[in-house]
Amino acid sequence: MAETPLVEIRNLYAEMVTFDGVAKVLNGVDLTINKGDLLGLVGETGCGKSVTAMTIPRLVPQPPARYPQGQVIFRGEDMLTKSADAMRELRAQHIGVVFQDPMTGLNPVFTIEQQMVDAILARQNAISSTGFVRGWMPSNRQRRLAAHDKAIQLLRRVGIPEAEKRVHAYPHEFSGGMRQRVLIALAISGQPDLLIADEPTTALDVSVQAQILRLIAQLVREINLTVLLITHNIGVVAQLCNRIAVMYAGNVVETGPTRDILRSPKHPYTQGLMRAIPNDDSGRGTLQGVSGNVPSLLDPPPGCRFHTRCPHVTDRCKQRIPPMHSIRDGHEVACVLYENGGGAA
Ligand SMILES: Nc1ncnc2c1ncn2[C@@H]1O[C@H](COP(=O)(O)OP(=O)(O)O)[C@@H](O)[C@H]1O
Ligand SMILES: [Mg+2]
Repeated sequence: MAETPLVEIRNLYAEMVTFDGVAKVLNGVDLTINKGDLLGLVGETGCGKSVTAMTIPRLVPQPPARYPQGQVIFRGEDMLTKSADAMRELRAQHIGVVFQDPMTGLNPVFTIEQQMVDAILARQNAISSTGFVRGWMPSNRQRRLAAHDKAIQLLRRVGIPEAEKRVHAYPHEFSGGMRQRVLIALAISGQPDLLIADEPTTALDVSVQAQILRLIAQLVREINLTVLLITHNIGVVAQLCNRIAVMYAGNVVETGPTRDILRSPKHPYTQGLMRAIPNDDSGRGTLQGVSGNVPSLLDPPPGCRFHTRCPHVTDRCKQRIPPMHSIRDGHEVACVLYENGGGAA
């Protein structure tokens, strides 16, 4: 039998309390991440990819967020029931996060070395169970030296040449791609089980994007990392990920092995996304063949939220959220077209 998944998000609902009302941003999300997965989470902007992913390390601020229902099981425990302190330790030990903009993640007034050493030490301090041998504690100087060595090792691991020298540079002396490498180095410094990369290449030059994505794939192979990669570009996941999950307006509507989804997308929304893959490297595609926009989450349409844009809409679609139907071998789709194992569309 398959191993227990690393992450299991079950029927997760999230709301955002805003001045305009309560936005129903997650509408019963189900998502499984297996150990060793490089899972691509795709969907148009505003579909709830970041809220879903950042709920695992509990990095979505509350308020405005609240979670009326659901479970987020990571390493066998429900993250939604954990205290802030427990979460801090859990993040330090088990979860690395890389964000979109590599400039905001680094402080311009300190060298890479100062920032990496501080981050490595802060992470160690957050883990109360580091467990030094009783009666022996390294001095602060010894700990800083060890952290310095570790910083250089990490920079080498993420492919920064002449790491011993370059560690003393300031962020502005690094290119955007090199800064993102530094942030990836920091994210993996605690040997996390899970790396969440939220549109990690969107702010980078096209020529550098592929290098960063290749680095992430390499880390999955070399250090047993499991990655949740968020991107609005399904072309990126096509090249990199073993599995894909497609989100639309607060639901995962289709999930499965990359090859199956590319060859035979089932959900009308996924089919629209596939037609939108740009055939050059320009990045963002528009949804050709699917008219309209993501609906307002303040007053979302009932039933399947895609029904307002779906070419196959029926009355049933307006009545309830379609449950996931299994197509085969882990390929699942939430759409009434497949209700009786059917193969329409
Ligand atoms: N801090 C917040 N306050 C209010 N609304 C938010 C906040 N964060 C996200 N949202 C809303 O939640 C929805 C999902 O957002 P997000 O997960 O960031 O989408 P994606 O990452 O797919 O682009 C959007 O409608 C967004 O406006
Ligand atoms: Mg996002």
